[in-house]
Formats: sequence, C-alpha cells, structure tokens
Amino acid sequence: MTSQFEWSKIQPPETIESSRKYIFNDDLLPSLIKYIGVKKGDKLVDLGCGTGTFTRYLAKGLGKECEVIGVDSDRQYIEYAQKKVVEEDLVDCIDFIESDVYNLPFEDETIDSITDHTLLINLDNPDRFIKEELRVLKKGGSISTSTFLFNYYPPSRAINNPEFDQLLKIQQKVYKFYKDHIFPRSFLEGNELNIYLMMKRYKNLNIQDIQINGFFPLFSPDDYRNKDIRRQWLKEQLAVHSNDIKVILSNQEYLAICGIEENELNLALKLLEERYHYELDNTTYIFTNSMEVIISGKKAN
Ligand SMILES: C[S@@+](CC[C@H](N)C(=O)[O-])C[C@H]1O[C@@H](n2cnc3c(N)ncnc32)[C@H](O)[C@@H]1O
Repeated sequence: MTSQFEWSKIQPPETIESSRKYIFNDDLLPSLIKYIGVKKGDKLVDLGCGTGTFTRYLAKGLGKECEVIGVDSDRQYIEYAQKKVVEEDLVDCIDFIESDVYNLPFEDETIDSITDHTLLINLDNPDRFIKEELRVLKKGGSISTSTFLFNYYPPSRAINNPEFDQLLKIQQKVYKFYKDHIFPRSFLEGNELNIYLMMKRYKNLNIQDIQINGFFPLFSPDDYRNKDIRRQWLKEQLAVHSNDIKVILSNQEYLAICGIEENELNLALKLLEERYHYELDNTTYIFTNSMEVIISGKKAN
C-alpha cells in the first residue's frame, strides 16, 4: 500500500536509529543470523529497511564479502541509509533501493534470503507481501520476519493517577492517527504481531521448516545484569519519544488530522517524561517487559 504519510515524517531518521541502538546487540547477532538462515556469500534482502538499522547490523555479522540489499519506499530514509553506509565503511556490501515492497525490483528466484524488521506487522496485505517475497526467493531460500512483543503495564503509581488515564486517551488518539493515516495494521494500536497467525500464514503459503525464536531479552524485568544498559536505554528512549511527539507537535497539519489539541500533546509529553523518569529512578523494572521474536522458514524446493 502507499501510505498517505511517509514514516520518516513521523519518525525522523535520527530517532529510528536511536530506538534500535540497544536492540541490535552484537552478542545476539550470531544467533539471529542462524535464525534468519543466511550464510556468508548469500544475497540477502531486508525489506522496509528504513534507515538501514537492521541491514547494517546484519551486514556486520556476515562480514565484508556479503551482499545485502535494503529496500524502502521512503526516500528520506534511503538517502540517510546511504550516508550511514559510507560513514560505517559498508559501501562494498550494502545497496539501498527505493521501491514499494509489493513490487520488488528483482527477477524471479534470484535472492537467497529475505527478511524484514517490523515491516510485515505494519502492512495491510501480509499475504500479498509474502507471495511477492516468495516470487523473488530462490527455491530452498530462507524467509523471515521479526518484531517486538510488548507486554506493557503502566507503573503502579499510575493506578491512582488520573493524569495517566488522560495519557492513555491521548495515546489512543495518536495510535488511531497512525492506523488511519500511516499503516492500517499498525502494532501501535494493539494489533501487534500475532505470532501464531503469522506462522499460519507462512504455513498456508507452503513455507517449510517454520521456526519461531526469541532474541533481545534485554528487558527481562528482574535481570539485574542488564541494569546499567537498561537505564541508558530508558534515557535514550525518552529522547526518542519526546522527539517523535515534538515532530507531531511542530506540524499543524498532523495535529488537525489527529484531532489532538496542542495542549494535549504537551501533556502527553510531560507524562511520558514522568513515566520514564519514574522508571529511571527505580531499580526494579517490574512492569515493562518486551522482547523480539523472529519467524523463519524456507521456500519449498
Ligand atoms: C517500523 S519501520 C522499520 C524500519 C526498519 N526496518 C527498522 O526496524 O529500523 C517500517 C518501514 O517500512 C517502510 N514501508 C512501509 N510500507 C512500505 C511499502 N509498501 N514499501 C516499502 N517500504 C514500506 C516504511 O517506510 C518504514 O521505513
């Protein structure tokens, strides 16, 4: 589908970059590469690559001899991604292409491995997308999709705080805006990847050897080994969310479409800051838990 708004207008390249910084953790990279089923020398495609966060991460794990291609329809992201590969000395192994993922610019059965990070969950026609992936994938090639699984409960202090009810209401308006104008299936509204449904889609399209694996368990609530990393992450997440809200705030057109008053968004920002500071000031991370899952399989021979 063609979205009315480009994702980069809602989430500038810098904030998408910092939101991924701790997720794409070097320690987990070898397992992720195994789950994806990609081998050195393979031609790997990352769809809905955005600024190329996942693309670059995978390329680093595969080494310089790899051939990785990122595809996205958002020109601002693609241009940013191209600058990043120069900075990170990855030009020899990564290419970025501006294209719609429903019409991939590849010949039939020419790709060894195809993947995406948080794209499939946002698409309005997942089956059409998976069929297009299978068209370009070689027989026996690997296909995968990955996303966050959220399990979020507001801090206990929110229970008796009417301002948090207000925050939830404002958030619902923002999520509706995403759903109506950005991506119809946006996980932000709670339609997060239903892993069983996605596995079923893979199965119905005759994908073989389907597996599901978890990675990035960094935020497991009681894992004190990760305490410092988590605190740093929280600080940066606050910056990411604040920036995203400021981007919406600075655009009268978005505010009008969302049906959100400027003072409501300012309040949302204030509450968000409070929430993160609350978590930062407390050493137990009782209420927020999230992880990433990857579903993978192979095209039948
Ligand atoms: C949630 S972002 C994920 C970006 C990147 N994979 C990451 O995790 O950092 C979703 C991306 O999918 C892209 N996208 C959505 N629909 C698309 C389509 N039909 N064709 C190409 N790209 C699309 C958006 O432009 C956006 O960059």
